[in-house]
Amino acid sequence: MKIELLDEVVSTNDCIKRYLGEGEDVIVCARRQTGGKGTKGRAFLSEEGGVYLSALTFYEGLPAAQAFTVMAHAAVAVCKTAERFGVRARIKWPNDVLADGKKLCGILIENVLAGDTVKASIVGIGINVCNNVSALGGIAVSLSSLAAGATVEAVRDALIGEYGTESDFSDYLRYLDCTGRTVRVMENGREYAAYARRVLPDGRLEIEADGAVRALSGAEISLKL
Ligand code: BTN
Repeated sequence: MKIELLDEVVSTNDCIKRYLGEGEDVIVCARRQTGGKGTKGRAFLSEEGGVYLSALTFYEGLPAAQAFTVMAHAAVAVCKTAERFGVRARIKWPNDVLADGKKLCGILIENVLAGDTVKASIVGIGINVCNNVSALGGIAVSLSSLAAGATVEAVRDALIGEYGTESDFSDYLRYLDCTGRTVRVMENGREYAAYARRVLPDGRLEIEADGAVRALSGAEISLKL
């Protein structure tokens, strides 16, 4: 697979879009981003010292209903990467990766749809490695603070290796650490406590709140009540 290593870009997710017309899978990594993008239109702080990687993958008729497998694979690849450095990372639904209870990595996925299939996906992964996360107010952690051998280059190469290795839904469930407990749900401007029962194979989180069982797709959860 083609791998492009760059110094500075606005966003690797945007920069990789120039390959959309080519039909060949590619990975783009940058040392820093000046306009890193997070989920829900948020910015993602991307100073030197982190790994900022986007992977463009083309699919032959992946049903849009199975798009969650792309997200699950990315989160599992990050957990396995952390494991290579002796760090136990866990997934908070749907795809935040935490270590030591703090955010180690964010994942932003942009799918290109054709009808009800995914034609291509851009998976953007940002891992805190040696960057200063103190500006994030104690909610984030860097891999190098937990593992002495974690350099940007070593983590980037490990991530590229793990991303290229297959994973399945059982791997996702193995690293998931937010079910079987009460969580705080943020949904459509509303916040409430709910019991997180399980993640369904289509990626929805099944919760129980006010005596009713429902499956969430667009919500966010917090493990802090
Ligand atoms: C989030 O936690 O909100 C998702 C953050 C995703 C950040 C990565 S860094 C590489 C890629 N390029 C971007 O602009 N964003 C993603």
